[in-house]
Amino acid sequence: MRVAFLCALGVILPLRARAVLYDNPASLPKRQYDYMIIGAGAAGSVLANRLSASPHNVVLVIEAGPSDNVDPNIPIPFLCTTLTNTVVDWNYTTVPQTGLDNRVIAYPRGKTLGGSTSINYMVWSRGPSDDYDRWARVTRDPGLSWESMEPVVKSIERLVPPADGHNTTGQIDPRIHGTSGPVQISSQGFRADLDPRVLKAASHLKHEFPFNLDVNSGNPLGIGCNQFAVGEGRRTSAATAYLRPALSRHNLDVLVNTQVTKVLHTGTREGVPVFKGVEFAQSATGPVHTLNVTNEVILSAGAVNTPQLLMLSGIGEKVHLRKFKIKTIVNSPMVGKNLQDHVVLPNVWSVNATFTFDDVARNSSIAQAYLSQWIANQTGPFATTPNEEIGWLRLPRSASIFDTVRDPSSGPHSPHYEFIFAESFASFVEQRPATGRYMMIASNLVTPTSRGTVTLRSDSPWHAPPIDPALLNTDFDIFAIREAIKAAKRFAASPGWDRYVIGPFGDLATAKTDAELEAYARRNAATVFHPVGTAAMGPENSSSSVVDPHFVVKGAVGLRVVDASVFPFIPAAHPQAAIYAFAERAASLILSSKLSSY
Ligand SMILES: Cc1cc2nc3c(=O)[nH]c(=O)nc-3n(C[C@H](O)[C@H](O)[C@H](O)COP(=O)(O)OP(=O)(O)OC[C@H]3O[C@@H](n4cnc5c(N)ncnc54)[C@H](O)[C@@H]3O)c2cc1C
Ligand SMILES: *[C@@H]1O[C@H](CO)[C@@H](O)[C@H](O)[C@H]1NC(C)=O
Ligand SMILES: *[C@@H]1O[C@H](CO)[C@@H](O)[C@H](O)[C@H]1NC(C)=O
Ligand SMILES: *[C@@H]1O[C@H](CO)[C@@H](O)[C@H](O)[C@H]1NC(C)=O
Ligand SMILES: *[C@@H]1O[C@H](CO)[C@@H](O)[C@H](O)[C@H]1NC(C)=O
Ligand SMILES: *[C@@H]1O[C@H](CO)[C@@H](O)[C@H](O)[C@H]1NC(C)=O
Ligand SMILES: *[C@@H]1O[C@H](CO)[C@@H](O)[C@H](O)[C@H]1NC(C)=O
Ligand SMILES: *[C@@H]1O[C@H](CO)[C@@H](O)[C@H](O)[C@H]1NC(C)=O
Repeated sequence: MRVAFLCALGVILPLRARAVLYDNPASLPKRQYDYMIIGAGAAGSVLANRLSASPHNVVLVIEAGPSDNVDPNIPIPFLCTTLTNTVVDWNYTTVPQTGLDNRVIAYPRGKTLGGSTSINYMVWSRGPSDDYDRWARVTRDPGLSWESMEPVVKSIERLVPPADGHNTTGQIDPRIHGTSGPVQISSQGFRADLDPRVLKAASHLKHEFPFNLDVNSGNPLGIGCNQFAVGEGRRTSAATAYLRPALSRHNLDVLVNTQVTKVLHTGTREGVPVFKGVEFAQSATGPVHTLNVTNEVILSAGAVNTPQLLMLSGIGEKVHLRKFKIKTIVNSPMVGKNLQDHVVLPNVWSVNATFTFDDVARNSSIAQAYLSQWIANQTGPFATTPNEEIGWLRLPRSASIFDTVRDPSSGPHSPHYEFIFAESFASFVEQRPATGRYMMIASNLVTPTSRGTVTLRSDSPWHAPPIDPALLNTDFDIFAIREAIKAAKRFAASPGWDRYVIGPFGDLATAKTDAELEAYARRNAATVFHPVGTAAMGPENSSSSVVDPHFVVKGAVGLRVVDASVFPFIPAAHPQAAIYAFAERAASLILSSKLSSY
């Protein structure tokens, strides 16, 4: 559903006394920048804010997309699902997925200030402590451990009351959350009819689905109430939390509608190539501009575009670059490899309800009334996302797959799969039926062992890179998704539903044997939009990683990667919180390394 607004929006909005967004490279002030940040997404916005906090650093951010004020639906939590396939989406698709019956699936990525945090579903999920400890272990950097990073995550948060002001006692543990950080987070701002029902259904199956007061404590296991990057009924994005508050600074410039097409090899230091320049343009046929930087170029273009830019710049696997006649400057074989993503399967049941969000999707006068309420005072159903409770669950230790496959989770507090509940129909392959009311329990595989790639299609930055997340390509992944469907079925069969659940919808009803469940998964699953790992971090001395623990591209001087690309293993969580935390850490490292590195 798209809800149209009648309101005049300029592409360049003066925001404070001085601050402007430049939308033409020719109008940038002529000055020497110390740092250039490529991409104003989750990580890039954090860096823009932190690096420009020191008045001595002159910082330029270059963002391919437009300002985040071009789409009035961006701030409205409920309308998050309307933001894909718009001007603020790169509109990527995957190559045919062999694990998904050769389907080509949509692969949205935000293309605007805030990046994907301006189009995402706002789930705030810090992830298991075990994930952080594994990142510390595999990179040999104790600075990434939960002990070191938990205070960072906490410092990012500003826990605020939910939009409806309800008493959240018993739904969240406020003691573990930050209260003075830039990212407003809150519990659900509108309690749907489904919420108490999910918790009651869980309470009848306590052994398998224990209640967890706060899934963000470092131990996410169990069923809990969800938390969102939402404050005062509005989306918190990297743009609202980090970038816009810094725009009034004289030492920060932001250039929008401009794509970086290459990072430039500008010299050599002690035999190592230096990359302290960038090339950019506003279209494939427009003028090409270049700029050099004093200190560093920081790539924050996200897990798809960062490896693409590295390869276009001569940093990648030599054999692959040679195919496109790109001269290899740094032979870095893992660029674009190790792509990991979560696989989501929306399982749907018919429910005996007098109202679900299906009604909102079908009846524009209901939608209009909710929209008017949101515009009036940012309350009501549109002040929250369509997702409700959340669950994080493990396969049993005795699962037969562990006879042959090593447990891919990061530790005993880390889930293998996730449940996401919603009071609505949901499907990637089918239209919402014209009648009936539904509930969804999505099964989301969060420890996939499949590994995919981002490669080049050509030597042109204007050709979308082939993306192959290789979803459901391993025995473990198929086993885990099958078990996650069975678990969702057990949950839906809880006596606690009191005749609310009528029965499984569509294919789910007939999928019973393992072969049928597998076929159902391959026919219906898609991505939950969490690609990571394509420029992975590894220890200082390993050659099987792209960046070192200081986020510096190995084999290069003056170039870092700070974004979702650097995770060596995908978080068993919705990744934005960990990305913000990694970017905060990178900013501290950059600020403290400044004297020693140049
Ligand atoms: C539909 C959707 C729903 C999601 N839901 C959730 C959720 O509920 N919770 C959660 O935690 N995570 C969610 N995510 C994932 C999360 O938003 C991303 O993982 C996160 O934003 C990635 O951060 P990043 O900094 O790596 O990249 P991004 O935030 O994607 O930012 C990259 C930026 O770089 C820009 N850029 C790219 N190439 C260039 C170039 N060549 N020149 C200039 N600029 C460039 C892009 O336009 C973009 O603005 C969702 C993502 C999507 C797409
Ligand atoms: C994505 O697709 C939509 C709908 O077709 C289109 O309006 C938009 O311009 C596209 N986005 C980009 C970045 O090309
Ligand atoms: C919220 O509810 C709890 C338990 O029901 C109660 O102890 C507490 O006083 C309430 N808080 C407010 C602010 O009303
Ligand atoms: C950037 O640096 C390179 C190498 O030092 C130089 O050749 C080039 O002219 C510089 N470009 C600009 C725009 O200053
Ligand atoms: C839409 O909802 C309104 C308000 O509940 C109701 O009066 C109207 O009959 C509904 N329209 C349709 C087509 O169902
Ligand atoms: C918000 O507006 C709605 C109607 O538009 C009203 O019913 C509600 O009481 C208002 N809430 C607050 C907190 O002002
Ligand atoms: C639907 O729920 C109502 C109570 O809310 C109950 O009276 C009715 O029997 C239920 N219908 C079915 C088909 O279970
Ligand atoms: C890297 O260094 C660590 C510790 O210093 C050492 O244990 C490891 O063997 C080294 N690895 C390689 C590939 O040299």
